[in-house]
Amino acid sequence: MKTGIYPGSFDPITMGHLDIVKRSAKNFDRLIIGVLANNAKNPLFTTEERVAMILEVIRDYPNVTVESFSGLLIDFADKRGASFIIRGLRAVTDFDYELQIAQTNRKVNPNVDTLFLTTSVEYAYLSSSIVKEIARYGGDIREFVPEEIVDKVYEKCRIREDSSYGRK
Ligand code: PNS
Repeated sequence: MKTGIYPGSFDPITMGHLDIVKRSAKNFDRLIIGVLANNAKNPLFTTEERVAMILEVIRDYPNVTVESFSGLLIDFADKRGASFIIRGLRAVTDFDYELQIAQTNRKVNPNVDTLFLTTSVEYAYLSSSIVKEIARYGGDIREFVPEEIVDKVYEKCRIREDSSYGRK
């Protein structure tokens, strides 16, 4: 069985992430979305919340699962028998960091390789940070995150009840 791991903070999952999930899932028997628990980035959503949101979003993808992990990604990949780590590349600015991590991971465990997918152009600008920033100020995030989680993001970002967006 060919297993891939798609790791990240997913704080929260965006349409850009979902695009990578859909495209990767087609190429693996099993795709595990790995949500980093011990995250130095001080996430807005708890690990459980991030996992729960992803669970809702991947309902229609039978070969995709989600779980949290802590510690080294390469150890998590090894424990799950994954041969590939998948990462999305939005722009050249992502590349330096991603290359360094991929090469380090491969040095630690040569049995696990990293596959890069270029983000679809319509999501090239998108990041979880941008989504949170827009939601905080009451902007419309409906194009940026899966519809199942729009309200959860607004709630967490404490959008005002009278905002023109965010509440159906
Ligand atoms: O969505 P992000 O924040 O860009 O994801 C980063 C992530 C989770 C892939 C990366 O921080 C990670 O793998 N962390 C686990 C610790 C680890 O293995 N670090 C790389 C070796 S130096």
